Parts: sequence; C-alpha cells; structure tokens
Amino acid sequence: MENNIHPIFETILQPSQKEALLKQKGVVIWMVGLSGSGKSTLARAIENELFEKGYLTKLLDGDNLRTGVNNNLSFSTEDRLENIRRAAEVSKLFMQAGVVTICSLISPTEEIRQMAKEIIGEGYHEVFIHCPFEVCAERDVKGLYKKALAGEIKNFTGLDSPFDNPENPFIEVRTDLLSLEESKNQLLNAILPIIEYKEEN
Ligand code: ADX
Repeated sequence: MENNIHPIFETILQPSQKEALLKQKGVVIWMVGLSGSGKSTLARAIENELFEKGYLTKLLDGDNLRTGVNNNLSFSTEDRLENIRRAAEVSKLFMQAGVVTICSLISPTEEIRQMAKEIIGEGYHEVFIHCPFEVCAERDVKGLYKKALAGEIKNFTGLDSPFDNPENPFIEVRTDLLSLEESKNQLLNAILPIIEYKEEN
C-alpha cells in the first residue's frame, strides 16, 4: 500500500458494538459561533445534563485543545483550518467509541466546517450558537473584544478575520434572545432523539 500504511479498520471492534455496550448512539455535536457567543457555557451545560441522564460524553473545547494537541497553532486562516482538522479527527475517534462528543470551536468559515463534516461523516451535527458580534462585544466575558477593538489582538474573528454564518445547521440557538436555561433546553430537545439507542442499530 501507498506509504507502507496498512489500516485495520474492518478487523477491529466496530462502533455499533461500542454503542450496544453503552446503550447510546455515538454522534458529534459541533457547536459553531463567535467568541463569547455562549458555546462553552452551553457545551458544559448540556454535557452535565446528559451525564446526569446516564450518557457517556466528551467535551472538546477549542481553548482547551489549544493547550494540548493544538498548542502549536495560531489564529491565521491556515492554522485555524489545521486546528479544526485535528479537532474533527479527534471527535471522530470518540464518536466511533460510541461517545456523545460535544465540540465547541469557532469554526469560522464554510470551508472549515465542510472539512469537519467530511472527516466526521454522517454523525456530524452542526449547531449554530448565534449571537451578533455587537452583543458578544458588549458582554466581553474574557475581555478579548476590548483588546481586539483596541488593536491589541490581530486576526480577531468577526473583526479582521472572517466569520460566515452557517447556512444550514442542524439547529440554531439565539443566545442573545434566549436565557441559558431556554438555550440548553432547545439543544437538549434536539439532541436526545439522535443519541437514543435503538436495538435494531
Ligand atoms: S477557531 O477559529 O480555530 O475555531 P478556537 O475555537 O480554536 O478558534 O479558539 C477560539 C478561542 O481562542 C476564543 O474563544 C478566544 O478565547 C481565543 N482567541 C485568542 N485569539 C483569538 C482570535 N484572534 N480570534 C478568535 N479567538 C481568539
């Protein structure tokens, strides 16, 4: 084989066997949105709730991944692409182990999200955490908008680095209009049916 690589995908335990063990469906919930839109807060909230309900979950957060597997990457267009490529490959590994994998990364462009979708396949569920730039800048939980608007951070998403609103997400949550509780419930109502284990699977 090319490069002397001989993958053994077909001969190892399959995702369906892991799902049968865990009695849940492995999926990726890919949360997209501006910095400060509420992705991490909501990801944490739904992970806690699903865990309480007995689901095995894994939360992959952009800031966290950037302290480890992605710690050599910047916020250039090229590095963001690589950031998402690695995050998508890692999520796929968790998903294939039957885990409900919740990802929270800005994932700013259509091109970047298309790549994640292609890597992950049919388990990919895109969630748009929608909050306008002005509202994120107003909240400025991490103080990054103040710095970016003062010119102290370059390539800041939504300012001098692009953000395309997702066109056809699995679900869109308007965190500027809904409370945390309402946003969480909207998400859970969408997620619970797709992770439910069905015997015929
Ligand atoms: S992504 O664009 O590559 O998907 P990712 O989700 O990993 O971004 O990281 C975003 C986080 O990095 C933000 O929540 C913020 O805390 C921090 N950050 C630091 N610099 C920037 C920047 N220039 N643009 C956006 N976020 C930044």
